[in-house]
Amino acid sequence: MTEDDLNPIESILLEEGEKESKLIENRKLLDPTYIVDEDRIVGRDEQLNKVARALRVILEGDRAANLFLYGPSGTGKSLITKAVCRNLKNLSEDNGIRLGTVEMNCRNLKTLDTAVHEMGEETAKEAGTDYDVPRRGYSTEYKYDKLFELVEENFDSLIYIFNELDMLSGRSDKDEPAFSRLLYTLSRLEETRSLSTNVTTIAISNDTRLMDQIDSRAESTFSPEEIHFDDYDANQLRSILDRRRDAFREGVLSESTLPLAAALAAQDHGDARKAIDLLRISGDMAELDNEQEVTEEHVKRAQKKIEESRVLEVIRGLSPQKKYSLYSTAKVASMAENRTARSVEGYRVYQHMMDEIDADKRIKETYTNKLKELSTYSLLNWERNSEGPSSGAFLEFKFETDLDAIVETLEQEEWYNRLDESRLRQTIRESFTR
Ligand SMILES: Nc1ncnc2c1ncn2[C@@H]1O[C@H](COP(=O)(O)OP(=O)(O)OP(=O)(O)O)[C@@H](O)[C@H]1O
Ligand SMILES: [Mg+2]
Repeated sequence: MTEDDLNPIESILLEEGEKESKLIENRKLLDPTYIVDEDRIVGRDEQLNKVARALRVILEGDRAANLFLYGPSGTGKSLITKAVCRNLKNLSEDNGIRLGTVEMNCRNLKTLDTAVHEMGEETAKEAGTDYDVPRRGYSTEYKYDKLFELVEENFDSLIYIFNELDMLSGRSDKDEPAFSRLLYTLSRLEETRSLSTNVTTIAISNDTRLMDQIDSRAESTFSPEEIHFDDYDANQLRSILDRRRDAFREGVLSESTLPLAAALAAQDHGDARKAIDLLRISGDMAELDNEQEVTEEHVKRAQKKIEESRVLEVIRGLSPQKKYSLYSTAKVASMAENRTARSVEGYRVYQHMMDEIDADKRIKETYTNKLKELSTYSLLNWERNSEGPSSGAFLEFKFETDLDAIVETLEQEEWYNRLDESRLRQTIRESFTR
């Protein structure tokens, strides 16, 4: 087949495939959902030990203690859980124990009823059968009944893993959150239903306070072993990345690539998922550029890209007033020598902006409150300062790396077109000299 025989789509598909230099050889090692082998897991011995020791009684046919794993994003909670479960499954097969593991994310489960239905479907999937219960028109109790029938029939032991369990808060007219009621039910199956299957629950959350929200009745029956997962430091991130070096073809990573990726991710809360994403995106960029090496430059560009998309996502979701407050302040900071903005100047520019685009002007306190709220998205920090004993205190807003991305993103908004850039700059310059 010559090139002329190809249709336009074929020729793109084939051409790109040939043209890009392939630097990533084993992509699954850079996939955040892939469960790596034990020898690639770094710095989680304590947690691994605790989880494995808690669950090993399953192999003797006993019910394991419930677990509560908590800690920030990307600290290995899912990885450790899944790695232990994978081993348990292999070993229990050898021991003739029918072990099932069902993992669910509670983010989109609104009520207890939907959660129970979802558990029914996922449990059936794990058992290789169907859960014949319609979503609507049946009581939660009925859904539970059918679920536990299925459990009893198919498993000797069953582990439920609930990610982001705190999101399952349920209807607001109930005093007790839905997850609390669910945990209560799951931890009393032997007594209430004489279920012979040993059901163990692993609750996972970023929120340390999850246990505080659990009803005392549920807490005493659920009574999990709590296991904490900490942020990684730069060295740990570096070892984690180091053990995935073979995702790349030999020799294509420049010496400083991994250390830089680890250092950047460590600055950003020590999230291993971020470190791995950074490495993958760096590799993708180098491949697209047809380079033979993944260099520091690619890592920096990848970091910028990740940062921009995060900023973009956060900013898109903000209310208009938050956007205006943020924009006026960021714009001031972008023109200031020290890249910070004081509330006085920010508010002056905010007022100018509201006049120009004909939007509702809020009082200064509202403006500063909106900005303070934004610090929870790590778009900015703030600090109370003063220029000396005789002058009043003011708030100083500091932006870190994302300042330019914030300004650029907000300048895509429709209202920006109604602002006159040179008048805006003039106002900012004047506010500096006051
Ligand atoms: N100790 C570790 N050693 C090797 N890789 C790790 C380690 N911890 C995390 N990772 C990797 O980092 C990524 C994120 O980890 P994981 O999914 O376990 O995070 P998590 O704590 O469950 O985060 P979240 O709260 O966002 O669900 C995965 O690719 C995982 O393989
Ligand atoms: Mg997880």
